[in-house]
Amino acid sequence: MAERTALAAPSILSADFGRLAEAVELIGASGADWIHVDVMDGHFVPNLTFGPKTAADIRKLTKLPLDCHLMVTNPQDHIAGFAGAGADYFTFHVEAALHSNRIIQNIKAAGMKPGVCVVPGTPVHALDEILGDVDLVLVLLVNPGFGGQKMISSCLEKLAKLAALREERGYRYLLSVDGGITTENAGTAVEKGADVIVAGSAFFDAPDKRDAVRKLQGKAAG
Ligand code: DX5
Ligand code: ZN
Repeated sequence: MAERTALAAPSILSADFGRLAEAVELIGASGADWIHVDVMDGHFVPNLTFGPKTAADIRKLTKLPLDCHLMVTNPQDHIAGFAGAGADYFTFHVEAALHSNRIIQNIKAAGMKPGVCVVPGTPVHALDEILGDVDLVLVLLVNPGFGGQKMISSCLEKLAKLAALREERGYRYLLSVDGGITTENAGTAVEKGADVIVAGSAFFDAPDKRDAVRKLQGKAAG
């Protein structure tokens, strides 16, 4: 069992999209903390999911924070849409952002919390100039686009670097991990410094959602 605990953010990506309301209800009843909303545009990643209309519909069904992860090439074009949908966190990819400082300012001005994400091939130092301005740093543990992939565990080492930078410089971001998290490996991610654990298939495939969420949170069963 991990000594630290984390927030659990089941990803709606792994839900049956024909039964979204039921999936949101399952997440709410499981004791999970946030709902992770994976937005894919078919350009930044080779898959398509949904946009602000779906996020707005989910918003009507739950009070849990909506943790929107924008895997899109032009994140700035979607700030107003997701703010209007009631998103809480708007996390964009540094690889997709030319003017990341401006994007962060615009996310804040729209009333959301800015997050920034790195794919496995992007080093932590690519975030150096913006870490002081974000509320969340999302470390991807798989190449994005699909749920159900195996974690690239070397990416977990980014957590230690980001935690050290936060300590050294007095930053305040939450550290989130996403991709290939299972009820078995979540404890390691929590021990390594994750504050938020995103899980798609590990949540939706679990026969006992409450038990799965406790494991994702790094807590004992029960
Ligand atoms: C990856 C997405 C993840 C995905 C995780 O492209 O950003 O949020 O839903 O799914 P699992 O937990 O199944 O790897
Ligand atoms: Zn995600």
